[in-house]
This record gives sequence, C-alpha cells and structure tokens, in this order.
Amino acid sequence: MRAARPDPEIVILRALMDAGDAYVSGTELAETLRMSRVAVWQHMEKLREQGFTFETARARGYRLGSTPAQPNAALIAATLPRNRETSFSLEVLDEVDSTNDEAARQLAAGHRAPLGVIAGRQLKGRGRLGRKWLSEPNGNLYLSLGFRPPLAPARMATFTLWVGVSVTKLISTFCRTEAKVKWPNDLHLDGRKVGGILTEARIDADQIRDLVVGLGLNLVPPTGGWPTELKPTATSLAEQVATPFDANRFAAALIGCVLNAYDRFVDGSFQDTFADLWNQFDALRGREITLIQGERRITGTARGIDDSGSLILRTTAGKTERYHAGEVTIAKPGR
Ligand code: BTN
Repeated sequence: MRAARPDPEIVILRALMDAGDAYVSGTELAETLRMSRVAVWQHMEKLREQGFTFETARARGYRLGSTPAQPNAALIAATLPRNRETSFSLEVLDEVDSTNDEAARQLAAGHRAPLGVIAGRQLKGRGRLGRKWLSEPNGNLYLSLGFRPPLAPARMATFTLWVGVSVTKLISTFCRTEAKVKWPNDLHLDGRKVGGILTEARIDADQIRDLVVGLGLNLVPPTGGWPTELKPTATSLAEQVATPFDANRFAAALIGCVLNAYDRFVDGSFQDTFADLWNQFDALRGREITLIQGERRITGTARGIDDSGSLILRTTAGKTERYHAGEVTIAKPGR
C-alpha cells in the first residue's frame, strides 16, 4: 500500500492515536475527511483488513484497539511528524529482490522523492562489499529511503557516516545500552552487530542523480536462535530493548531520523554536531584494530575520523594514516 498523501486511512489513524483513550465520533472523522460516514466506515473496514481493531461505542464513536505487528504503511505514515505527511511516501511490500533496488527503480521512474520502501523479505538482499544480506521473513527490518540530493559525489562518504551516527543515536534511545557505530557503517549494540547501512548512488557527471540509503536491522534473533558462529558477533534489538518493542513505532522513528539527517546534511547544519556525535558513538576510537583492504592488512590504534570521513589510524609503525575504505576488525572487542 502506498501512503503518498495524507490519505483517509492515515488521517483516521492519526485522529484515533491523538485521541488516546477517548472516542472519536464518526461525524467528526467524516467532517475532517469531508466524506460521508459510510465512506469513513469503508476506510475503517480496509484498516481492519490490514490487522487493525477498533472499539466502537454507540453515540461515542471509535477508539483504536490493536495495531498490526508487521510493518504497515498507513500506521508508519500516521506516526511520522505531520510535516512529512505530504512530502514523503512509503510502500510496504511482502517480498522484493532488494529494497535498495526497488527504491532505485522508483527514483529512475520519476517517483517523487523522498520515498521509502520496506519489505518483509528480500530475495537478493545486499550488504557492503558485495556481500549477501540474509533477509528472511522473520520480522527483521529491511528499509530503503530514496533521495535526489543536490550534492556532489565527493560528499557521499560523510553523508553515509552522518546517517550512521544519527541512526546509532536513535537506536540508543530504545535500548538499555548505548549503541555504537563501527566505521564506516556497522551499527553495534553490546559489542555485536545489530544492523548495517548500504548507501548507493547513481551519478551523472559531477552530480548525484539518485541516492538510496538501505538499512538492515536485526529486530529479533533468528527463529531457533543465533547459529554458533554468529553468536559472538550478532545481536538483535529485541534482546537489548528497555521497553516492549513495537516494530511500527521503531520504523517510523527510524524513517523520521534518516529524513531529518538528510535535511540537515543538505542544509549544512549537521556540521554543528557531527564531530561530537561521532566521538560519542564511535565504536573504534582508542581501540587496536586491523583495517583490511583486499589483501592488505594495516594494524594500529583508531583515532576517529577526519572531515572527509576517512578513518584515522595510528599504525604500529608509528605513522598517522587516513583510509577512506576498508573493513575493520577489532583486536579485543569491547562492550
Ligand atoms: C552491511 O553490509 O552492513 C549493510 C547491510 C545493508 C542491508 C540493507 S537491508 C535493506 C537494504 N536492501 C538491501 O539489499 N540492502 C540494504
């Protein structure tokens, strides 16, 4: 389902969520939506088909009962800040090859940006460095956001790091322990990977034409638990959250966070906080690490990042070097 405009179902959900425990009358909803009460009822039937329940009371109206556990476009859109209501559209699919590919196709077809795609399952989920991103239909989050940024390609690296650290900060608000970002784009909780970001762009001459930010988040452990080989290195949000976890509320918060991060990157205001945030959430600073670039291995102590997003490394040979790409392993993972 596409939620491009404040469509009636979004308006109904928003009104019921705003009302909390109070009832909202059918007449009030009909007036707000400028449609008949029968038409309102028909929209509510459509919401029921998606898994919503409503309590009804004679002469008082409707109250929101339960909401679907699976990602729902109308619910996420109704949870986003109001200023995103008409400027952002979201599609939730059961299955797709890759949400990054779907977002890129929509941008290429001329769809208005920003746009979002969530899938319950990816058949060809991709990770960084050409890796496969396991994307089973077990309730994890596979989300891509598509933009048309007025930016030069050279700024991509910093953008990706800025999005990564912004998302890390957001994840921390949901969890018992502070999340960390492992350069360039791994999201860590309790010293283990909870998610990753894959940013991809189509470039025209010296301008980014389309930009897709793909986020894969482990919301729950795999059915049957983590395989032995992944146990020391992987975790899920459900294992780390402080309060009961609602996937739709989290998806809305995550989308809001990336949309804000994008706006702040484009208007330049991200610079006010970027360095401080990176220092606060950096998983590597001060650690003994090995940077792997193909066959090359460079060992040293991580010293943060520079203005262009390159990793600063004090090598064991005593030199300070900067690296703009590679894969990092930490000698002694800390929590
Ligand atoms: C990484 O290697 O850590 C990045 C993983 C990014 C996975 C996400 S899932 C949603 C989007 N679609 C993809 O095919 N990849 C990204």
